Amino acid sequence: MTILVTGGAGFIGSNFVLDWFAGHDEPVVNLDLLTYAGNLQNLQSVATDPRYRFVRGDIGDNDLVARLLRESAPRAVINFAAESHVDRSITGPEAFVQTNMVGTFRLLEAVRHWDGRTPEFRFLHVSTDEVYGTLEPDDPAFSEVSRIAPNSPYSASKAASDHLVRSYFHTYDLPVLISNCSNNYGPFQFPEKLVPLCIHNALAGKALPIYGDGLQIRDWLYVGDHCSALRAVLDRGLPGEVYNVGGGNEKTNLDTVRTICTTLDKEVPRDDGAHYADQMTFVRDRPGHDRRYAVNSAKIQRELGWSPTESFQSGFEKTVQWYLSNRDWTDQVTSGAYRDWVEAQYA
Ligand SMILES: NC(=O)c1ccc[n+]([C@@H]2O[C@H](COP(=O)([O-])OP(=O)(O)OC[C@H]3O[C@@H](n4cnc5c(N)ncnc54)[C@H](O)[C@@H]3O)[C@@H](O)[C@H]2O)c1
Repeated sequence: MTILVTGGAGFIGSNFVLDWFAGHDEPVVNLDLLTYAGNLQNLQSVATDPRYRFVRGDIGDNDLVARLLRESAPRAVINFAAESHVDRSITGPEAFVQTNMVGTFRLLEAVRHWDGRTPEFRFLHVSTDEVYGTLEPDDPAFSEVSRIAPNSPYSASKAASDHLVRSYFHTYDLPVLISNCSNNYGPFQFPEKLVPLCIHNALAGKALPIYGDGLQIRDWLYVGDHCSALRAVLDRGLPGEVYNVGGGNEKTNLDTVRTICTTLDKEVPRDDGAHYADQMTFVRDRPGHDRRYAVNSAKIQRELGWSPTESFQSGFEKTVQWYLSNRDWTDQVTSGAYRDWVEAQYA
């Protein structure tokens, strides 16, 4: 058997592929367009593994996806491919509509029209808690029946894709599963996102930008725990169901950045004896910035027996350590050296 992963060269997708091979012999086909967020270096350790095949391409390319389905006859498609950065969705929403909505639609169509599906086949769509919008301080955490109320072009495009996926279950009997996960952190995250951005800027002596008052709350989950949740959903989830995945770690952005700074103070003290937190700089808030996310994971814990293994403290220490030990990874991504290589490689 084989699984077809899309967007497997991105942050969560590459962690998923590496975790998968740590526990399975089942082959993986990775279909990724290698946008700015995709990085084959993340998967260098498995690049020549006979169980692994990389294909550069678009989930919206019907002919390509149809061919890959015929060739590899996967028992599951796991859709990670997306435009994923809220700030980019504000300055350029079109790419989000194109990949997250149109791309997911075409992927669903290719799967629907593929006649090689076995009864065990599953389509797992990886989505976000951001589709539920924002919470007031005393609201209960998002559950699977919370109202869908996205506030950014990113979350709106993900919500639209979730709706399409759901409709293919009800209309075409496609055995779909949807997971809505909270903010992830861990190795291989593109340094435009809060955690790697702060680590990178702190070490480079640059400002650590904090939007607005920094009191926006996010529910943090270590990426490895997200991967184990996805495996649980794939193995034991019921077709047509939605599973929320969260870390139970509600922290303000200020607290998160302070945790990074104190860990860095311990690991790599600044030469001048000052604290990395001194580099924090408040900047104008993001338009439509959601105030609070919190995810109720009771359903996946109860029905699928999943629970996270990393605490906020242990996960962040591990993550900071990883970025400290892999500075060349961040340097390559930020210097554009990796992008130049991709352009030359696939010219
Ligand atoms: N990062 C988070 O905190 C988080 C939380 C919950 C859910 N999610 C969801 O998980 C998924 C993966 O997120 P991520 O943080 O790894 O994103 P990412 O931006 O790091 O990676 C996205 C990957 O998709 C690829 N891609 C983009 N457009 C494509 C296309 N048209 N065809 C094929 N490949 C394409 C990119 O090259 C990249 O490798 C996304 O769907 C995202 O919405 C992310």
